[in-house]
Amino acid sequence: MAKDTLAILDNRTGKSYELPITDGAIRATDLRQIRTGPDDFGLLSYDPAFMNTASTRSAITFIDGDAGILHYRGYPIEQLAEHASFLEVAYLLIFGELPTARALEDWTWQITHHTWVHENVKTFMDGFHHDAHTMSMLISSVAALSTFYPDAKVNHDPGHQDLQIYRLIAKVPTLAAFAYRHRLGQFYVYPDNDLSYTGNFLSMLFKATELKYKPQPAVERALEVLFILHADHEQNCSTNAMRSVGSSGVDPYSAVAAAAAALYGPLHGGANEAVLRMLRAIGSISRIPDFVKSVKAGEGKLMGFGHRVYKNYDPRARIIKRMADEVFAVTRPSPLLPVALELERIALADEYFVSRKLYPNVDFYSGLIYEALGLPVEMFPVLFAIPRTAGWLAQWKEMVGDAEQKIARPRQIYTGPGQRDFVPLGRRA
Ligand code: ACO
Repeated sequence: MAKDTLAILDNRTGKSYELPITDGAIRATDLRQIRTGPDDFGLLSYDPAFMNTASTRSAITFIDGDAGILHYRGYPIEQLAEHASFLEVAYLLIFGELPTARALEDWTWQITHHTWVHENVKTFMDGFHHDAHTMSMLISSVAALSTFYPDAKVNHDPGHQDLQIYRLIAKVPTLAAFAYRHRLGQFYVYPDNDLSYTGNFLSMLFKATELKYKPQPAVERALEVLFILHADHEQNCSTNAMRSVGSSGVDPYSAVAAAAAALYGPLHGGANEAVLRMLRAIGSISRIPDFVKSVKAGEGKLMGFGHRVYKNYDPRARIIKRMADEVFAVTRPSPLLPVALELERIALADEYFVSRKLYPNVDFYSGLIYEALGLPVEMFPVLFAIPRTAGWLAQWKEMVGDAEQKIARPRQIYTGPGQRDFVPLGRRA
């Protein structure tokens, strides 16, 4: 009968080993018993960029990259995007179940009543250069939140953890909007507790002299859907940063700042910004063939295409593409949409992209919607970071409660010189 084990023969020693396979994985530490002698540390698995290493067991998000499937806690992303609010989804990610009406009311109240930030936040926001990138301001100001909550280091009391979660999900949009207004040189708009999570964010971004800002329902809902789509994506670069930094026991404000910094890079959440810059640089449909040729010649990437996990159409891109028309009906249509559609069409028919299974990812169309909302490209990664804060915190809470997790500390294969004696400055070649 087939056994759930892996038989290994070490040709260096002639010894055989049998390692258990659980859930399709062997434990890397089981390899340590495979040694050439007592001084041998034991066999390591070498996996730069974690191409084939699971670092956790997680019950939060499921992705089938080949089939283009994304579930949060078992619920398909399409159903959540159609029927749920962002706060319901955030609750689902963090606590594992959709909230009851009572739980949702309490959760919404908690988030709504933690949106205000200490007045001193405005002082350090003012200290940023007038054209500082909004994502850098967000990262720095989230890190600075930890100075207001010095007791927030990892604590296993769920009430204590939940308080930090309320604060972070509530305050990140406030910090993001303050950063945006700082760049514009405009006054900061305080949170409006009468509005929804996304409605309040739009108010903090766009309110001018009117007494009460009224978000356009179609825009408010579009932002809600974009937030749902970006809320979590299992063990990506920024989530790995959240878990890795959080595993040291640091407060979650510092860990979210680290995760946001990881998200900022152009290969991750900064890609939506890069997509829009790319579409602007292409400019017109007639220039697409030359652009695609340059990508194939290795002169640059087709930003918003490709994914480490999806080797099929990213289900989030499909939802955003559908939603774009609804948004453009109430805003002005994006002049870059025809360029994006044609670029996608050409790439999906081109052998280079087909053979490498490169499809549009979530960032390909999201920037066009953000642009239609009147937001500058510098805000795009910020708009990703706001909803992803819920995912990072869900992953952090799961990690903190996982008895198997310890401080994250990868191994290395040392390739430097052997021991040698110090050379005084005057004798160095
Ligand atoms: N344009 C052109 N070629 C590409 C692209 C692209 N966007 N993405 C991958 N390739 C090519 C690579 O050059 C490589 O080709 P080769 O086999 O001839 O060397 C092959 O496809 C495999 O790509 P890898 O880089 O090995 O794939 P990896 O899983 O490491 O990278 C990544 C995934 C970083 C997302 C990559 O596809 C990329 O840089 N895409 C553009 C940036 C982007 O859109 N990022 C957003 C990702 S989604 C998110 O983070 C929210």
